[in-house]
Amino acid sequence: TITNQVIAMPKLHRVARLAALLAARGGRLGVAVDHIDGIERLAEAMAQYGSDAGIDVLVEIDVGQGRCGVPPGEAAVPLALAVSRSPRLRFAGLQAYHGRAQHLASSVGRRETIAAVVRAADHTRQLIEAAGLPVPLITGSGTGTLVHEAASGVFGELQAGSFLFMDADYARNERDPAQPAFEHALYVKTQVVSVRDTHAVCDAGHKSHAIDSGLPTVALLPADRTLRYANGGDEHGLLYADAPDARLPSLGHMLWLIPGHCDPTVNLHDFLIGVRGGLAAGTVERIIRVDARGALT
Ligand SMILES: Cc1ncc(COP(=O)(O)O)c(C=O)c1O
Repeated sequence: TITNQVIAMPKLHRVARLAALLAARGGRLGVAVDHIDGIERLAEAMAQYGSDAGIDVLVEIDVGQGRCGVPPGEAAVPLALAVSRSPRLRFAGLQAYHGRAQHLASSVGRRETIAAVVRAADHTRQLIEAAGLPVPLITGSGTGTLVHEAASGVFGELQAGSFLFMDADYARNERDPAQPAFEHALYVKTQVVSVRDTHAVCDAGHKSHAIDSGLPTVALLPADRTLRYANGGDEHGLLYADAPDARLPSLGHMLWLIPGHCDPTVNLHDFLIGVRGGLAAGTVERIIRVDARGALT
């Protein structure tokens, strides 16, 4: 699913092309909209492109994120009806994603926030259906709250992505007992390039991992895990041994960092190195190119 920021016509033509390419391979592209202008321009772009493939259109409701979306309730009804009247657009349902809820540290906080999301989405669905239009899908959720949307009986799709890799930010949050325990699978490998009395320095700064959700933690060997990573700028990280049982690593030592935020970290790299068998003893099995590298919009 791509979101509403597709108002520029050249971009909408690319969306129409992508929808046709996906349809030819048995896939479906979904776009979220929150304004009648966006719906009309998307319909125009689809008509100009001339493909019969059509495109799934979800009306986005703002369930608390404060980003895109119309308020839940009545405001979504005319948009859903407008989509359903357009021959090349398929009304696919509601986009009801609460991104901030994913990262709330307390499991009770996440559960209560998503309970309100579920009520808002269900109420909006009822209003659209009362206007005579079935709502095929309510979609949203992410790694932090997926158990709640899954159990709601209201959501038909979970958009979780980070669970595949996990990151230091998600790992810091309190786990709900119902939540699966996802393991870390994304690391940035780095080497110690300088050792001083007070700290060591490694060659991974924030050009190699995203720090918007906090700094990385140090993974793998028990001795390394006690090290504290601090921001050393663009190309460097500072390592402190301030835990009672910690020792500074030696020059040349290899470390694996668990990035603070996995999604924007992946986008900083051309390739992922696929290792099977664990970091210490595993073997490289695949080099995976990051196709979306630099595809920022
Ligand atoms: C709209 C939307 N849905 C789902 C997700 C996935 O969330 P997570 O990676 O936390 O599982 C994101 C993440 O940025 C998102 O923007």
